[in-house]
Amino acid sequence: MENQSLKKGFIDVLVGLQWGDEGKGKNIDELLSKGIYSGVARFQGGANAGHTLKFGDKTFIGHIVPSGCLQKDIELYIGNEVVVDVVSLIKEIGELKNLGFDVIPRLYISNRAKLVSYLHPFIDQAEEFRRNKGEGKIGTTARGIGPAYSDSRARRGLLVGDMLFSDFDKKEENLSSFHMDLLNMYKEKYGFEIPEEKIREARNKWIEAINEVKKMNICDLSFLIQKRLSEGKNILAEGAQGIMLDIDFGDYPNVTSSNILPANVCLGLGVPHTFIRDIYGVIKAYTTKVGGGDFPSRIKNEEIEKLFQKAGNEFGATTGRPRMCGWLDLFAIRHAVRLSGVNKIFINKANICPTGEIEVVTGYEINSKDSEEFPFRLNQITGVKTEKMLGWGDSNYGVSDFKKVSPELLNYINYLKGKLEDLDVEIVSVGTGPDRSNFFELEDSN
Ligand code: IMO
Ligand code: MG
Repeated sequence: MENQSLKKGFIDVLVGLQWGDEGKGKNIDELLSKGIYSGVARFQGGANAGHTLKFGDKTFIGHIVPSGCLQKDIELYIGNEVVVDVVSLIKEIGELKNLGFDVIPRLYISNRAKLVSYLHPFIDQAEEFRRNKGEGKIGTTARGIGPAYSDSRARRGLLVGDMLFSDFDKKEENLSSFHMDLLNMYKEKYGFEIPEEKIREARNKWIEAINEVKKMNICDLSFLIQKRLSEGKNILAEGAQGIMLDIDFGDYPNVTSSNILPANVCLGLGVPHTFIRDIYGVIKAYTTKVGGGDFPSRIKNEEIEKLFQKAGNEFGATTGRPRMCGWLDLFAIRHAVRLSGVNKIFINKANICPTGEIEVVTGYEINSKDSEEFPFRLNQITGVKTEKMLGWGDSNYGVSDFKKVSPELLNYINYLKGKLEDLDVEIVSVGTGPDRSNFFELEDSN
C-alpha cells in the first residue's frame, strides 16, 4: 500500500472498557511518561468526561482539555467528533494556568468540532424532565451532549470553525431561536421552565468564552495530525466514557451520544485506520456506573456497596453523584474487548478491596439460560453467574514492586489473565493508588 510506505508515526488508542470512570486519565499520564508520544487527542464526547489527574500534591479534573495537559511538551488536540463546551474549556485553561501550565500555545481545536451552545444544557435537562415522566431518566451529566450531537446530525448545529466567519452571529441567532421554540414546547407541554435570567447569564458567559476561543489555534486538525505523523511523531488518542456507554453498542438509550469504540478514532480525528497501532483498554478492579438503566453486576448488599463507594471515593468527577458499585463484570469486559480490538489492558484501583471475599460476574442468564451473546437490552437479564475468591484488604496501597503484591491480589490478576487469554490481550500494569507512581507492571510482560 502506498500509504503504508509513506507513514512514519503511529496512533495508539486508550479507551475505557466499562461504564466510564475507569481511571483513564492516570493511564494516559503513565503512557506519556514513556516519552514516545508528541500529542494527545480527544476524538469523541465532550465535557461529560471527568478525568482526574494528580500532579504531586495538586489535582486537576479535566472535562474537555485532553489529559496530556500536565506534560509540558505534549500537544493537545480536540478532534472533529468532539462537542466543545467553550465555557468549560476556558475555565479549565484558567485552572491550568493557575497550576503553572499555559496550554493555549499547544492546544489545537478542529474547525470541524461541534459547538455546544448555551442552550444545549437546558435542552438536555428539559429532555430528562420529559423522560422522567415516561420511560425514566437516562441520568445524563446535563452538559448538553445529546442535544449538541442531535443538532450536528440534523445539520443545523454550529461548528467551531464557524466562529471565524462573519455569518456566525446570524447562524447562532437562527439556532438559538430554534432552541427557544423547543424550550417553549417543553414549557407548554411538559411544564419544564428555565428562568430567563439563567438563560441570559448562560448566553453572556458563552459569548465571552467564544471570544476567547476565537483567538486560539482553530485548524484543519486532520491535516495537522497527518503532518505530525509524517514527521514521525506518535499520537495518543484518548477515549472518554467507556465502551458500555457507546451509542451503538451500549444499553440504548442508557448510553452517551457518541461512538466510543476505537473505530471512531479515524472519523473523530480524520485519519485512516492504517495509522493505528496499539489499543489500550482500561478497567477498574471492580465496576461502577452512574445514571439510569440496569447494572447487572451491581453489589446487592447495600452496606458492601457503600464500602466500595467510600474506599474507592466513587463520586462523580463531573456531577458529584455517588456511583453505583458492582463486582467486576467479565462478561461485559469480554464483550467490550471483542468490540474494540484491545490488545493491552490496564487494571486500576486494584488496591481497593474492602471485603474479605469478592465476586466476579462471569455470565448472564436470560430466563435461566446462559446467554452467549451480549443481550440487546440489559433488562432482559434474569440472573448473573458469579465466581467467588478471597479479598486482599488494603495492604496493596501504593505498591509498585511486583514482589510486594499480596498473594490474594496476584491470584485475582492471574485469574483475570486466564479468563481473557483466548482474546489475545495482555495485562500491562496494575494501579494501586491515585498517584502517578502507584502502579506495578507484571513481571512476565513487556
Ligand atoms: P468519563 O470520561 C461515567 C454517563 C452519564 C449517563 C450517560 C449519558 O469520566 O469516564 P451524557 O451526559 O453523556 O448524555 O450522559 O452516560 N456518562 C458517564 N459516566 N463517566 C463518564 O465519562 C461519563 N460520560 C457520560 O452518567 O448515564
Ligand atoms: Mg466520569
